[in-house]
Amino acid sequence: MAEKQVLVTGACGEIGQALVQSLAKRGGYRIFSADLAPLPDAIASLVDEHFQGDLVIKAKYFYDYDFDVIFHLAASLSSTAEKSPEVAHRINVDGTMLLLSMAAYRSEKYEKEVKFLFPSTIAVYGFPSLKEKTAAGQIKENEWNNPQTMYGCTKLHCEKLGLYYSSFMGQRHLDPNPPTMLDFRAIRFPGLISAFTVPNGGTSDYGPEMLHAAAQFKPYVCFVREDTKISFMAMQDAVKSLLMLMDAPHENLTYPVYNIAAFSLTAREFSEWSLKSFPEAKITFEPNIQRQGIVDSWPEDLDDSMARKEWGWKPDYDVERFFNEYFLPEIRKRYE
Ligand code: SER
Repeated sequence: MAEKQVLVTGACGEIGQALVQSLAKRGGYRIFSADLAPLPDAIASLVDEHFQGDLVIKAKYFYDYDFDVIFHLAASLSSTAEKSPEVAHRINVDGTMLLLSMAAYRSEKYEKEVKFLFPSTIAVYGFPSLKEKTAAGQIKENEWNNPQTMYGCTKLHCEKLGLYYSSFMGQRHLDPNPPTMLDFRAIRFPGLISAFTVPNGGTSDYGPEMLHAAAQFKPYVCFVREDTKISFMAMQDAVKSLLMLMDAPHENLTYPVYNIAAFSLTAREFSEWSLKSFPEAKITFEPNIQRQGIVDSWPEDLDDSMARKEWGWKPDYDVERFFNEYFLPEIRKRYE
Protein backbone atom coordinates (compact mmCIF):
# COMPACT_ATOMS: atom_id res chain seq x y z
CA MET A 1 0.00 0.00 0.00
CA ALA A 2 1.23 3.53 -0.79
CA GLU A 3 2.60 5.47 2.14
CA LYS A 4 0.32 8.14 3.55
CA GLN A 5 1.76 11.64 3.52
CA VAL A 6 1.50 13.31 6.90
CA LEU A 7 2.30 16.89 7.91
CA VAL A 8 3.05 17.61 11.58
CA THR A 9 3.30 21.31 12.43
CA GLY A 10 4.86 22.24 15.77
CA ALA A 11 6.89 19.04 15.39
CA CYS A 12 9.60 20.19 17.80
CA GLY A 13 7.15 20.64 20.66
CA GLU A 14 6.33 18.01 23.24
CA ILE A 15 3.33 16.44 21.47
CA GLY A 16 5.04 16.85 18.09
CA GLN A 17 8.14 14.86 19.02
CA ALA A 18 6.14 12.06 20.65
CA LEU A 19 3.71 11.94 17.70
CA VAL A 20 6.45 11.80 15.04
CA GLN A 21 8.06 8.91 16.96
CA SER A 22 4.74 7.05 17.15
CA LEU A 23 3.95 7.58 13.46
CA ALA A 24 7.42 6.33 12.50
CA LYS A 25 7.00 3.28 14.74
CA ARG A 26 3.60 2.48 13.24
CA GLY A 27 5.06 2.70 9.73
CA GLY A 28 3.31 3.43 6.44
CA TYR A 29 3.77 7.22 6.64
CA ARG A 30 5.93 9.74 4.86
CA ILE A 31 6.43 12.38 7.51
CA PHE A 32 6.77 16.10 6.78
CA SER A 33 7.25 18.56 9.62
CA ALA A 34 7.14 22.28 10.25
CA ASP A 35 8.37 24.33 13.17
CA LEU A 36 10.14 27.59 13.98
CA ALA A 37 13.04 25.51 15.31
CA PRO A 38 15.31 22.99 13.60
CA LEU A 39 14.41 19.36 14.26
CA PRO A 40 15.85 17.91 17.48
CA ASP A 41 18.03 14.78 17.23
CA ALA A 42 15.25 12.64 18.73
CA ILE A 43 13.18 12.91 15.52
CA ALA A 44 15.48 14.33 12.82
CA SER A 45 16.06 10.95 11.14
CA LEU A 46 12.33 10.09 11.14
CA VAL A 47 11.23 13.08 9.05
CA ASP A 48 11.40 13.21 5.22
CA GLU A 49 11.31 16.99 4.89
CA HIS A 50 11.29 19.78 7.46
CA PHE A 51 9.96 23.30 6.87
CA GLN A 52 11.67 25.61 9.30
CA GLY A 53 10.22 29.07 9.88
CA ASP A 54 7.06 31.06 10.43
CA LEU A 55 4.06 28.93 9.49
CA VAL A 56 2.08 31.95 8.29
CA ILE A 57 4.77 32.45 5.64
CA LYS A 58 5.53 28.77 4.97
CA ALA A 59 1.89 27.65 4.54
CA LYS A 60 1.82 28.59 0.82
CA TYR A 61 4.45 25.93 0.07
CA PHE A 62 2.11 23.21 1.27
CA TYR A 63 -0.17 23.67 -1.77
CA ASP A 64 2.42 21.69 -3.75
CA TYR A 65 2.14 18.66 -1.46
CA ASP A 66 -0.43 15.92 -1.34
CA PHE A 67 -0.98 15.46 2.40
CA ASP A 68 -3.45 12.80 3.50
CA VAL A 69 -3.34 13.90 7.13
CA ILE A 70 -2.37 17.16 8.83
CA PHE A 71 -1.65 17.31 12.56
CA HIS A 72 -1.63 21.04 13.23
CA LEU A 73 0.09 21.25 16.62
CA ALA A 74 1.94 24.58 16.28
CA ALA A 75 0.58 27.15 18.75
CA SER A 76 1.49 29.74 21.32
CA LEU A 77 0.52 28.19 24.70
CA SER A 78 -1.43 29.87 27.47
CA SER A 79 1.22 31.65 29.58
CA THR A 80 3.22 32.81 26.54
CA ALA A 81 0.05 34.00 24.81
CA GLU A 82 -0.88 36.21 27.78
CA LYS A 83 2.45 38.06 27.42
CA SER A 84 1.78 38.98 23.76
CA PRO A 85 -1.88 38.33 22.98
CA GLU A 86 -1.76 39.83 19.47
CA VAL A 87 1.28 37.77 18.48
CA ALA A 88 -0.42 34.65 19.86
CA HIS A 89 -3.55 35.43 17.87
CA ARG A 90 -1.53 35.64 14.66
CA ILE A 91 0.26 32.34 15.35
CA ASN A 92 -2.79 30.43 16.56
CA VAL A 93 -5.55 31.77 14.33
CA ASP A 94 -3.84 32.96 11.11
CA GLY A 95 -1.64 29.85 10.96
CA THR A 96 -4.63 27.54 11.48
CA MET A 97 -6.81 29.34 8.96
CA LEU A 98 -4.17 29.18 6.23
CA LEU A 99 -3.75 25.45 6.76
CA LEU A 100 -7.49 24.82 6.91
CA SER A 101 -8.15 26.70 3.69
CA MET A 102 -5.27 24.88 1.97
CA ALA A 103 -6.63 21.50 3.14
CA ALA A 104 -10.19 22.45 2.12
CA TYR A 105 -8.98 23.56 -1.33
CA ARG A 106 -7.04 20.35 -1.91
CA SER A 107 -9.90 18.13 -0.67
CA GLU A 108 -12.31 19.76 -3.06
CA LYS A 109 -10.03 20.08 -6.07
CA TYR A 110 -8.69 16.50 -5.94
CA GLU A 111 -11.87 14.99 -4.45
CA LYS A 112 -9.90 13.46 -1.62
CA GLU A 113 -10.74 14.14 2.02
CA VAL A 114 -7.71 15.54 3.81
CA LYS A 115 -7.87 14.68 7.53
CA PHE A 116 -7.10 17.61 9.81
CA LEU A 117 -6.31 16.76 13.44
CA PHE A 118 -6.31 19.69 15.83
CA PRO A 119 -5.22 19.78 19.49
CA SER A 120 -7.63 21.95 21.41
CA THR A 121 -7.50 22.39 25.17
CA ILE A 122 -9.11 22.70 28.59
CA ALA A 123 -8.40 26.43 28.15
CA VAL A 124 -11.56 26.76 26.01
CA TYR A 125 -13.46 26.47 29.29
CA GLY A 126 -13.72 29.33 31.74
CA PHE A 127 -15.27 29.61 35.20
CA PRO A 128 -16.06 33.00 36.70
CA SER A 129 -15.01 31.80 40.19
CA LEU A 130 -13.57 28.86 42.10
CA LYS A 131 -16.99 28.22 43.59
CA GLU A 132 -18.45 27.41 40.14
CA LYS A 133 -15.37 25.43 39.15
CA THR A 134 -15.55 23.20 42.22
CA ALA A 135 -19.29 22.75 41.97
CA ALA A 136 -19.09 21.83 38.24
CA GLY A 137 -16.71 18.84 38.67
CA GLN A 138 -16.56 16.89 35.38
CA ILE A 139 -17.78 19.03 32.50
CA LYS A 140 -19.05 18.22 29.02
CA GLU A 141 -17.88 19.71 25.72
CA ASN A 142 -20.74 22.18 25.38
CA GLU A 143 -20.56 23.57 28.94
CA TRP A 144 -18.69 26.65 30.23
CA ASN A 145 -17.26 27.64 26.80
CA ASN A 146 -16.15 31.04 28.13
CA PRO A 147 -12.35 31.15 27.79
CA GLN A 148 -10.48 33.75 29.86
CA THR A 149 -7.14 33.54 28.04
CA MET A 150 -6.06 34.49 24.52
CA TYR A 151 -4.92 30.86 24.12
CA GLY A 152 -8.40 29.57 25.01
CA CYS A 153 -10.12 32.17 22.79
CA THR A 154 -7.98 31.27 19.79
CA LYS A 155 -8.41 27.52 20.27
CA LEU A 156 -12.20 27.77 20.59
CA HIS A 157 -12.28 30.02 17.52
CA CYS A 158 -10.13 27.55 15.54
CA GLU A 159 -12.47 24.69 16.48
CA LYS A 160 -15.27 26.71 14.91
CA LEU A 161 -13.15 27.49 11.83
CA GLY A 162 -12.45 23.77 11.46
CA LEU A 163 -16.18 23.06 11.52
CA TYR A 164 -16.80 25.86 9.02
CA TYR A 165 -14.20 24.63 6.50
CA SER A 166 -15.22 20.99 6.93
CA SER A 167 -18.99 21.38 6.82
CA PHE A 168 -20.49 24.76 6.08
CA MET A 169 -18.28 26.82 3.74
CA GLY A 170 -20.56 28.35 1.08
CA GLN A 171 -23.50 26.53 2.77
CA ARG A 172 -22.31 23.40 0.97
CA HIS A 173 -24.04 21.12 3.44
CA LEU A 174 -27.28 22.19 1.69
CA ASP A 175 -25.99 21.10 -1.73
CA PRO A 176 -27.55 17.77 -2.83
CA ASN A 177 -24.13 16.79 -4.28
CA PRO A 178 -21.71 18.49 -1.90
CA PRO A 179 -18.06 18.62 -2.91
CA THR A 180 -15.47 16.67 -0.92
CA MET A 181 -14.62 18.69 2.18
CA LEU A 182 -11.74 18.37 4.54
CA ASP A 183 -12.30 16.10 7.54
CA PHE A 184 -11.69 18.14 10.71
CA ARG A 185 -11.32 16.46 14.13
CA ALA A 186 -10.25 18.03 17.42
CA ILE A 187 -9.34 16.85 20.93
CA ARG A 188 -9.48 19.08 24.01
CA PHE A 189 -6.35 18.04 25.86
CA PRO A 190 -5.80 18.34 29.61
CA GLY A 191 -2.31 19.17 30.96
CA LEU A 192 0.17 16.71 29.42
CA ILE A 193 3.22 15.16 31.09
CA SER A 194 6.18 13.56 29.36
CA ALA A 195 9.22 11.96 31.00
CA PHE A 196 11.29 12.79 27.90
CA THR A 197 10.59 16.48 27.30
CA VAL A 198 9.87 19.50 29.50
CA PRO A 199 7.05 21.89 28.66
CA ASN A 200 7.48 25.56 27.88
CA GLY A 201 4.99 28.43 27.86
CA GLY A 202 1.93 26.62 29.21
CA THR A 203 0.22 27.08 32.57
CA SER A 204 -0.32 23.42 33.40
CA ASP A 205 3.50 23.30 33.30
CA TYR A 206 3.77 23.38 37.13
CA GLY A 207 2.91 19.64 37.21
CA PRO A 208 5.64 18.36 34.89
CA GLU A 209 8.12 21.08 35.99
CA MET A 210 7.77 19.99 39.63
CA LEU A 211 8.31 16.33 38.79
CA HIS A 212 11.33 16.96 36.55
CA ALA A 213 12.86 19.26 39.20
CA ALA A 214 12.31 16.70 41.98
CA ALA A 215 13.96 13.96 39.93
CA GLN A 216 17.04 16.18 39.58
CA PHE A 217 16.96 17.18 43.28
CA LYS A 218 16.51 20.82 42.18
CA PRO A 219 14.36 23.07 44.41
CA TYR A 220 11.03 23.97 42.81
CA VAL A 221 8.86 26.97 43.55
CA CYS A 222 5.36 26.10 42.38
CA PHE A 223 3.50 29.05 40.86
CA VAL A 224 0.00 27.92 41.93
CA ARG A 225 -1.67 27.19 45.29
CA GLU A 226 -1.52 23.68 46.76
CA ASP A 227 -5.28 23.14 46.33
CA THR A 228 -5.20 23.93 42.57
CA LYS A 229 -6.79 21.06 40.69
CA ILE A 230 -6.97 20.35 36.96
CA SER A 231 -6.92 17.32 34.70
CA PHE A 232 -3.64 15.72 33.50
CA MET A 233 -2.57 12.91 31.19
CA ALA A 234 0.52 10.92 30.17
CA MET A 235 1.98 12.01 26.83
CA GLN A 236 1.60 8.46 25.44
CA ASP A 237 -2.12 8.62 26.04
CA ALA A 238 -2.32 12.01 24.30
CA VAL A 239 -0.58 10.61 21.21
CA LYS A 240 -2.68 7.46 21.36
CA SER A 241 -5.83 9.61 21.34
CA LEU A 242 -4.72 11.53 18.24
CA LEU A 243 -4.04 8.29 16.35
CA MET A 244 -7.33 6.75 17.52
CA LEU A 245 -9.30 9.79 16.41
CA MET A 246 -7.44 9.82 13.08
CA ASP A 247 -8.47 6.16 12.53
CA ALA A 248 -12.08 6.54 13.69
CA PRO A 249 -14.73 6.02 10.97
CA HIS A 250 -16.19 9.38 9.95
CA GLU A 251 -19.78 8.15 10.31
CA ASN A 252 -19.26 7.43 14.04
CA LEU A 253 -18.42 11.04 14.86
CA THR A 254 -21.45 13.15 15.74
CA TYR A 255 -19.59 16.39 16.61
CA PRO A 256 -15.86 16.32 15.93
CA VAL A 257 -14.60 18.08 19.09
CA TYR A 258 -13.93 15.77 22.03
CA ASN A 259 -12.85 15.95 25.66
CA ILE A 260 -10.47 13.27 26.83
CA ALA A 261 -9.40 12.65 30.43
CA ALA A 262 -7.16 10.38 32.50
CA PHE A 263 -6.69 11.71 36.05
CA SER A 264 -7.16 14.90 38.05
CA LEU A 265 -4.62 15.96 40.66
CA THR A 266 -4.07 18.91 42.98
CA ALA A 267 -0.67 20.61 43.07
CA ARG A 268 -0.34 19.24 46.63
CA GLU A 269 -0.85 15.69 45.33
CA PHE A 270 1.86 16.34 42.72
CA SER A 271 4.23 17.38 45.51
CA GLU A 272 3.28 14.31 47.59
CA TRP A 273 4.04 11.99 44.68
CA SER A 274 7.31 13.86 44.08
CA LEU A 275 8.37 13.59 47.73
CA LYS A 276 7.39 9.93 47.95
CA SER A 277 9.62 9.14 45.00
CA PHE A 278 12.39 11.68 45.66
CA PRO A 279 12.38 12.43 49.43
CA GLU A 280 15.17 15.02 49.04
CA ALA A 281 12.97 17.15 46.75
CA LYS A 282 12.42 20.74 47.91
CA ILE A 283 9.01 22.05 46.83
CA THR A 284 7.53 25.35 47.95
CA PHE A 285 4.42 27.24 46.85
CA GLU A 286 4.44 30.90 45.78
CA PRO A 287 1.33 31.54 43.70
CA ASN A 288 1.66 33.94 40.79
CA ILE A 289 -1.56 35.92 40.53
CA GLN A 290 -1.88 35.76 36.73
CA ARG A 291 -1.00 32.11 36.29
CA GLN A 292 -3.15 31.15 39.28
CA GLY A 293 -6.05 33.03 37.70
CA ILE A 294 -5.62 31.05 34.48
CA VAL A 295 -5.75 27.59 36.12
CA ASP A 296 -8.54 28.64 38.46
CA SER A 297 -10.64 29.31 35.35
CA TRP A 298 -9.98 25.77 33.98
CA PRO A 299 -12.12 22.76 34.93
CA GLU A 300 -11.11 20.32 37.66
CA ASP A 301 -12.10 17.39 35.48
CA LEU A 302 -13.60 16.53 32.10
CA ASP A 303 -16.43 14.28 31.02
CA ASP A 304 -14.98 12.23 28.15
CA SER A 305 -17.97 9.94 27.60
CA MET A 306 -18.47 11.15 23.98
CA ALA A 307 -14.95 10.09 22.99
CA ARG A 308 -15.41 6.77 24.80
CA LYS A 309 -18.69 6.08 23.03
CA GLU A 310 -17.90 7.30 19.52
CA TRP A 311 -14.31 6.15 18.97
CA GLY A 312 -13.52 3.83 21.86
CA TRP A 313 -11.29 6.21 23.83
CA LYS A 314 -9.84 4.89 27.09
CA PRO A 315 -6.56 6.06 28.67
CA ASP A 316 -3.89 3.44 29.42
CA TYR A 317 -2.55 5.38 32.43
CA ASP A 318 -4.48 6.23 35.57
CA VAL A 319 -2.53 8.11 38.21
CA GLU A 320 -0.95 5.02 39.84
CA ARG A 321 0.12 3.49 36.53
CA PHE A 322 1.29 6.85 35.28
CA PHE A 323 3.74 7.27 38.16
CA ASN A 324 4.72 3.66 38.82
CA GLU A 325 4.94 2.22 35.32
CA TYR A 326 5.81 5.22 33.16
CA PHE A 327 7.01 8.42 34.71
CA LEU A 328 9.20 7.27 37.60
CA PRO A 329 11.08 4.47 35.80
CA GLU A 330 11.69 6.70 32.74
CA ILE A 331 12.68 9.80 34.68
CA ARG A 332 15.12 7.86 36.85
CA LYS A 333 16.82 6.59 33.68
CA ARG A 334 16.87 10.08 32.21
CA TYR A 335 18.53 11.85 35.15
CA GLU A 336 20.63 8.99 36.49
N1 SER B 1 -1.08 22.79 28.58
C1 SER B 1 -1.77 23.92 28.05
C2 SER B 1 -1.26 25.19 28.66
O1 SER B 1 -0.98 25.16 29.83
C3 SER B 1 -3.25 23.80 28.32
O2 SER B 1 -3.84 23.02 27.37
O3 SER B 1 -1.20 26.18 28.01
